[in-house]
Amino acid sequence: MSTLNGKQVGRIVILTGAGVSAESGLATFRDSGGLWENHDPMDIATPEAFARDPGLVYRFYNARRNQLAEVSPNPAHEALARLQREFPGEVFLVTQNVDDLHERGGSVQVCHMHGELRSHLCNACEERMPATGDIDGESRCPRCATAGRMRPDIVWFGEIPYHMDRIAMTLARCDLFIAVGTSGVVYPAAGFVREARMAGAYAVELNREISEVTGLFDEQRQGDASVTMTALVEELLAD
Ligand code: APR
Repeated sequence: MSTLNGKQVGRIVILTGAGVSAESGLATFRDSGGLWENHDPMDIATPEAFARDPGLVYRFYNARRNQLAEVSPNPAHEALARLQREFPGEVFLVTQNVDDLHERGGSVQVCHMHGELRSHLCNACEERMPATGDIDGESRCPRCATAGRMRPDIVWFGEIPYHMDRIAMTLARCDLFIAVGTSGVVYPAAGFVREARMAGAYAVELNREISEVTGLFDEQRQGDASVTMTALVEELLAD
């Protein structure tokens, strides 16, 4: 148990978004210079876009996966991992990020609700498998051997995120909800703060700026995630 602003805290849910990886050098989606500034998400991140122009979609995600080798976790990832290791209660980490920086930052549990760049999905056998390299329209599934049905293991707009039952269960019993580096425009993740507060949780938002959902939180701490997350973890572990 710990306390935050007088509230007893034993079960924490943390939702992370692209802002957590920004200081590692990965572009966010909606900030200036973000991924959706040069691409319409509807041309890349939908099943229809993949059917229309698979080459563009393969190239986009192959490039993003290859970029992972050039970046490293930052102090925000490391602070979160430390909280998971040292907090005497429960810490459940759910991320919208498809990079692997939480794992490389030392996180022992990461729930990737929007899929993972380091995984591929076969549309023929529906198996998810570790990505060993680039894929294209001719790639063969290592599991079922079907050619031409491999896709990035990314949850696109119009698809149902992974692990929703487990996430709903943990939100329904948490007493602290923290959202870090997410703009609060993409649902269902943007609605998690409501679910947590309905369960009686205290809600803290960490963001560089005011987000679409700031008003739904009990408190917002503004600044870079590397600073605000590290400070919040210190506070939670100080008790
Ligand atoms: N520290 C804290 N917050 C930051 C930082 C930083 N260093 N840098 C950026 N941010 C904040 C921005 O202010 C913004 O609110 O991170 C947020 C990033 O928002 P988005 O780019 O919209 O990313 P995210 O919320 O993760 O997007 C959600 O949209 O396109 C889909 O599937 C994709 O998972 C993604 C989802």
